[in-house]
Amino acid sequence: MADFISPEDFRDKLDRGEHFYLIDTRMKKDFDEWHINGAINFPYSKENSLEAYEMKKLRASEGISLEDQIVTVCAKGITSASFAEKLKHKGFSDVKTIKGGLRAWSGLYDHVQIATEKDDLIIVQLQRRAKGCLGYIVGSRRSGEAAVVDPSRYTKEFIDAATERGLKITHVFDTHIHADHVSGGREMAERLGINYYLGSDLEKRNPEFDYISVKSNQVIDVGGLQIKAIHTPGHTTEMTSWLVESEALISGDSLFVDSIGRTELEFEDDAERGAVLQYRSLLEKVLSLPDRIKILPGHFSVSDSGESGGVKPGTPIFSTIGYLRRNNRALQMEKDEFVDYMFENVPDKPPNYERVIGINLGREERGSEEEEIELELGPNRCAASEESMVGSSE
Ligand SMILES: [Fe+2]
Repeated sequence: MADFISPEDFRDKLDRGEHFYLIDTRMKKDFDEWHINGAINFPYSKENSLEAYEMKKLRASEGISLEDQIVTVCAKGITSASFAEKLKHKGFSDVKTIKGGLRAWSGLYDHVQIATEKDDLIIVQLQRRAKGCLGYIVGSRRSGEAAVVDPSRYTKEFIDAATERGLKITHVFDTHIHADHVSGGREMAERLGINYYLGSDLEKRNPEFDYISVKSNQVIDVGGLQIKAIHTPGHTTEMTSWLVESEALISGDSLFVDSIGRTELEFEDDAERGAVLQYRSLLEKVLSLPDRIKILPGHFSVSDSGESGGVKPGTPIFSTIGYLRRNNRALQMEKDEFVDYMFENVPDKPPNYERVIGINLGREERGSEEEEIELELGPNRCAASEESMVGSSE
């Protein structure tokens, strides 16, 4: 029997900075598309015997000794477990396999509390570290009511995060129709019998589900907390940032801590319009807010090689309007320069984005658990550039 390590324990090992070798046994093509930061690729299949010379080559090139700690991983944790067994037979003393493989790793969450000025306000950031997706619980200590913003299909994570803090979820919000992951908004609204809120411009995209349409500047009361809609189109037509109590702006994919949202996924045929909309939303609306307002983004960037640029998952990921005003280069550009920048910094499209948008608009049926795991594997690719534009957040 192979020894397994849970995705949670593996995360803690990474965060402690322990020394170990992570060997990913998938095919090179899959490895190149996306892998955990620092992994070594050693393609392996159960049908093949592990030739001594191959192992020797790997040990020599990576400097691995028989006493070193080794963790193996593959898509589901099956092939990598059989590889781990082989390694043990070859004399390696400390070999573990990530239980459930990259699929389980992709669904792992950190629940991180964000410090707030107002005593009554609780904000929890749910970080899906493998993909770089962020969702939020916004709750009131006094009333015990909470809203969820941008829940993923891992709805239990969000419900647990609220329950652990004595909060009851009474509202669900999405910032926009996501292209990189299946939204849990509708599912959560149905499961809990509560309303689902989206920006009113979504009507232009003909969604096929019920929701409460919120106009820009409209305020929704969540257990005594004021959540105000600020329409920030550009990333998508309906993109709406939610201003929580004049303290934090949940900015979705309009503004990140190290970058800004891409605009050409929806505005493919009219990419210039998307870029101009994004410029107006960020420069004329978001930057008109006071400097102390926190920016709570919808994503942080994760590269194909698993690096999370400029942020540390497991710790709060946010910035402030003031910091970004001074340090985010895109926010200092004139309109023409900004539009050119948007065209010059187009990353690869997220895998399967058309299918994901189809599901999130309610036009296509949700897939099986198996299919949705496959759809979402890989990083989010929501930013205009994968290069970090500021060194760090404050
Ligand atoms: Fe997005």
